[in-house]
Amino acid sequence: MQIIKTIAEMKETIQNKLPSTIGFVPTMGYLHEGHLSLAKEAKKENDLLVMSIFVNPLQFGPNEDFDQYPRDEKRDIQLAKEIGTDILFIPSVEEMYPTKSAIQMTILDRTNVLCGESRPGHFDGVITVLTKLFHIIQPTKAYFGLKDAQQIAVIDALIIDLNFPINLVGLPTKREPDGLAMSSRNVYLSNKEREEAVILYESLQKAKELIKIGTTFEKVKKVVENSIKEKITSAKIDYISIFSYPYLKKVNKTDNIIIAVAVYFEKARLIDNIILNQNGTQLKRFTRGEA
Ligand code: PAJ
Repeated sequence: MQIIKTIAEMKETIQNKLPSTIGFVPTMGYLHEGHLSLAKEAKKENDLLVMSIFVNPLQFGPNEDFDQYPRDEKRDIQLAKEIGTDILFIPSVEEMYPTKSAIQMTILDRTNVLCGESRPGHFDGVITVLTKLFHIIQPTKAYFGLKDAQQIAVIDALIIDLNFPINLVGLPTKREPDGLAMSSRNVYLSNKEREEAVILYESLQKAKELIKIGTTFEKVKKVVENSIKEKITSAKIDYISIFSYPYLKKVNKTDNIIIAVAVYFEKARLIDNIILNQNGTQLKRFTRGEA
């Protein structure tokens, strides 16, 4: 595995290797099975697997956890190597943002709900860093986790609007044995909170069953809210929402639908969701382009 820290070397390496297909998995590190599942799939489907680790300051709000975001580069390098990553790109903040940028990207659609609403500017930071990474790495396919479903919806818009010649792949959420979605931020949970957090998954499963039998969305959301409040007495619910996917609008009969929740814990804000096809089964792979 080659570890690359500069943009110049990254570009040069790609030009010299000229692989027929490049699979790209962008991450902020502190790798877990969720990240690795994306990388394993990308490895299977492409000639060359490039993974990046970059904690992107642009996507953190002023009161968010950029400085405290968990980091363990040594362990990440080991894990990336073990699953067969060909190139691990680890640029510094100075390398990615050497000067104050003259251009600011803003996403106008798909962000006025869910996390976009509670984290203003977050997705602008995500599309900015991904635009840069896409130009530097020039992937054939880029892989993301459906755990961050709104992020995939936003990247879908980015790729379509700016004509990136990239196929987008969204893959299922990897979970702990009890159902909690894996997340680098789970380390912030106390033991009690860790036990309580499983209710996010459990309430979404309940929602799935209710939707299958035709329960109204209002009723479904109320059931999810009650089960979260029952389990987590100090719960501060950010949102419980149901929208079309990936457009994140009011649901029409023919749409895929997303049921998404976000809950604040003492030191972490956890999100989870499920996406259902029109026939009520769970979406296994989201694709845009020839992915
Ligand atoms: P990060 O939170 O490190 O996540 C990197 C990728 O791993 C994302 O596509 C995310 O959806 C996916 N992922 C996280 N937890 C997962 C899980 N439990 N199962 C499956 N996939 C999971 O998302 C980011 O970084 C950043 O916003 C980034 C895209 C790198 C841009 O800075």
